[in-house]
Amino acid sequence: MGVHMRILVVNGPNLNLLGKREPAVYGTTTLWDIENRLKDRFPKVNFEFFQSNNEGALIDCLQKAMDGAFDGVVINPGAYAHYSYAIRDAISALKTPVVEVHLSNVHAREQFRRHSVTASVCKGVVVGFGSMSYEFAVQFIVESNN
Ligand code: DQA
Repeated sequence: MGVHMRILVVNGPNLNLLGKREPAVYGTTTLWDIENRLKDRFPKVNFEFFQSNNEGALIDCLQKAMDGAFDGVVINPGAYAHYSYAIRDAISALKTPVVEVHLSNVHAREQFRRHSVTASVCKGVVVGFGSMSYEFAVQFIVESNN
């Protein structure tokens, strides 16, 4: 594992409510738990964590990864995955690999969640493994970059 690897983990709208939000769907793990688990599992990775409920703030954050500041980006766009062309364009602008994650199996839910406009500009997508979706995404970035 690269000692100086830097990974940006971006979470979109309503993910600040994890733990309290629809626990039957999203579980009781909080975003803070997820972030701490990532730091514990990947102690050599220098993580930057960001969450916002605002589309523009998410785009501003993604643009910080444009200049090679990060070796990879993990993003859970939340519902923006299903319709934000602006976030899709922001991901397209990046050279660094971006992995999309979803806690829930979006394919087993409402029809509108089955399509992601952001997925096709990402390196890959991890769906349906709860908080482990984030761990698999980080593992990919770490193991493909070392
Ligand atoms: C989600 C799935 C989206 O459809 C939903 O809008 C979310 C969470 C997930 O992680 O399962 O906010 O991205």
